This record gives sequence, C-alpha cells and structure tokens, in this order.
Amino acid sequence: MNAITRLAAVVSLASFMPLTALAAEAKGSVEVLHWWTSGGEAAAVNTLKQQVEKDGFTWKDNAVAGGGGAAAMTVLKSRAVAGNPPAASQIKGPDIQEWGALGLLAELDEVAKANQWDALLPAKLTPIWKYDDHYVAVPVNIHRVNWLWVNPVVFEKAGAKVPHTLDELFVAADKLKAAGFQPLAHGGQPWQDSTVFESLVLSILGPEGYHKAFVELDEQTLTGDKMVQTFKTLQRLGTYMDANRAGRDWNIAAADVINGKAGMQIMGDWAKSEWTAAHKVAGKDYQCVPFPGTQGSFTYNIDSLAMFKLKNEHDIEAQNDLAKVALEPAFQTAFNQAKGSLPVRQGMDMTPFDACTQQSQKDFQEAEKGQGLQPSMAHNMASSLAVQGAIFDVVTNFLNDPKADPAKAAKQLGAAIKAAQ
Ligand code: GAL
Repeated sequence: MNAITRLAAVVSLASFMPLTALAAEAKGSVEVLHWWTSGGEAAAVNTLKQQVEKDGFTWKDNAVAGGGGAAAMTVLKSRAVAGNPPAASQIKGPDIQEWGALGLLAELDEVAKANQWDALLPAKLTPIWKYDDHYVAVPVNIHRVNWLWVNPVVFEKAGAKVPHTLDELFVAADKLKAAGFQPLAHGGQPWQDSTVFESLVLSILGPEGYHKAFVELDEQTLTGDKMVQTFKTLQRLGTYMDANRAGRDWNIAAADVINGKAGMQIMGDWAKSEWTAAHKVAGKDYQCVPFPGTQGSFTYNIDSLAMFKLKNEHDIEAQNDLAKVALEPAFQTAFNQAKGSLPVRQGMDMTPFDACTQQSQKDFQEAEKGQGLQPSMAHNMASSLAVQGAIFDVVTNFLNDPKADPAKAAKQLGAAIKAAQ
C-alpha cells in the first residue's frame, strides 16, 4: 500500500467510524433508575436490559442500592430538580400521580393503544399507571407482600410445624429458639419493620380493617383496641429477631434462612429471587405460606417504570421500546421467574412458574373478587410518601424500644398520620 492509498484508507476508516457510532446513537438510549441491586434482583433487571438491547437500543443502568427504594427516590428528586430526570424510573402507586401532577411524565398512549394495555392489565388497577387518563407508567410485575418464608430443614431439626395462625407462629418460633436457631431473620430498616407490621395488621384487623387503617386512614381504626393488640404482637415478634439486626439488608436476612441459620423470614416475594438465585426449588428446598392469619388476602406491591418527558426523538424511541417490551409475554415470564413476582400481564401461561408463584396467582384471583386485594402500605401503594414516612417512624421507634407501650404507640400512629396529611 503506497502513502496515498494508506491515507485514503485512514480517511475512509475515519469517516466510517463516526457513521457506525452515529448509527448506534441513532437507535437512541434509555436510562433506567431502579433499586434492584441484590443478586436475584440484578438477574431480573438483566432480562429487561437484554430485551432493550436486542431491539438495538442502549441501556444506561442507574441502580441505586437500598431496599424499598428510599435512596433511589432521593436521587430521582435531585435529578428532577436539576432538570435532568432519567428516561425511566421505578416509581410506586400514588407517587406516580404526584410526578404526573408536576407535569414531568411522558404520555404513553400510543404504545398502550398499539399493544392493548387496557385489555392486558388487571382492570381494577389501571388507574395506578394513568395520570389524567393517560398512561404515564408501565407495570412489570405484581409482588405479594403477605408471605412467610420457611426453611423446612431447620424446621425439621427443631421439630417445628409450618404455622398458619399467629398462635402457631409463636409455637414454631419457640421451638426454633429452643433448638438454637434464630427464629425470625429480619433486617432493622424502617421499610422492613413496616413490612412485618402491615402483615400483622392484615392478620389481626382483616382486609377491611387494613383498608380502613392504611387507605382510609381512619383514626378510630388507627388508635383502636385491635391496633393496640397489633403493636403488642409486634413487640412479641421482636423478641424472636436478632438483636443485631439494625441496618441489615433484606437479602442478607434472606440468606440467613437460605443458609439454615434462621428458620423464617416475613417478607414480600422478592425474597424468592434470592432463593432462586441460590438455585433452591420452591416447595422442596423452601416453603412459602401466606403470612399466618392472612389466607385469602393479598397485599400487592407493583413495580412500575414511569417515563419522563424527553426531547431527543431517538431516545423517545428507545423509551417507547422499553414500555412495549415490559409487557410482552417472553419478558413477563423471564423477569418474573427471576424476581419472584407474578406477571402483571393477564392471561399468561403459568406452567413455567414455580409452586409459590402459581399459588400467588390463584390467591390474587380469589382476593380480587372481594375485599382481599389490598395495596401495600410499606411499599408505597396505599398512601402518600409523607403518610408512609409517619407510619415508618412510629413503627420503627416502637420496635427498637422493647419496653415501649403498645397503647401509646397506637395513639402516636393516629396523631402522626393526621399531622402528615
Ligand atoms: C420493593 C420493590 C421490590 C424489591 C423490594 C426490595 O419495594 O417493589 O421490587 O425491590 O422493594 O428492594
């Protein structure tokens, strides 16, 4: 090759390179802010990334560690204030409405219409993803919160039986304790404390009482005798939790049950993602039972990706692609198998799912017929973040003080919620 041809080759290469770079750029990219950072959660979010990349778009991962998402929401707020929100962010229930009211969310009606979202999503729940009658978010799953996770090997060693009532729960906990196991694996973080608390409210007050407390914020229910009894029971449960639990992440607590150090965990079914990631089989290596006394009810926690208004048309295409693939059957199966949740797309073939998810599906359909289907308070589905924060404070302060007075806590709950409204 002489000097001229060499130069020509370099020039043509140079002009070719930006073109390919441009072509990739032309497909657009989508930045997704989420808090799926545990082993099982990361495996799940990876299935979404793969779908988007398969369609030729660039995935920009923005994972903010912190179970329950409080840290991620702080990042989202500062990004929005700086005028630079991500293309998509995990946002829950009533919070989607607040972001919609700020005028920051993009309308997804075209994608929704083309892909028949109205027919695919559970009819009772579609208002969650609409602001002003326009879709502004796409759901990816349905988590159930009122679950109890059990290690059957530990139970057998302790001679304990899987509990179905609160009394049986304490009998099992005593046996586990006597045999030298940690009865309840738990992480001392406000959202985890309130995850346990809300399941207790559901068990003791029933779904109607739960609704009155966390959706209607009815003062009588919040301060009544049954709420006092709930705090008493929470205090008793606290005695079966590890004293060094402060700040522990939920997946570390799940690992204690998986590894046979602890017997049970009260947690939503994202806990299953850790069992799955550890190659454990539902119904064989571990058991899932509705939280004792809550059979027939289903507290739901739905993960959704809300979409922010963008300017770049290629990035808008990438954003629309994300919204489209999120409800496609192949993604719904792969993602929810890894995540531990139910597909939010209705009418799916459930045969690829394990025993826990199949049970969850039946229970969801049953609960949907009556009062049993209730939004999770601890996972931002029932109230504003301000009200939720007030509940978290009361519950966590109470659980951290073994001598706290349950009657006083119920009064504080009523007052704190009133002040937060
Ligand atoms: C929930 C969320 C789940 C899971 C969990 C632990 O709020 O809906 O997807 O991530 O927090 O972080």
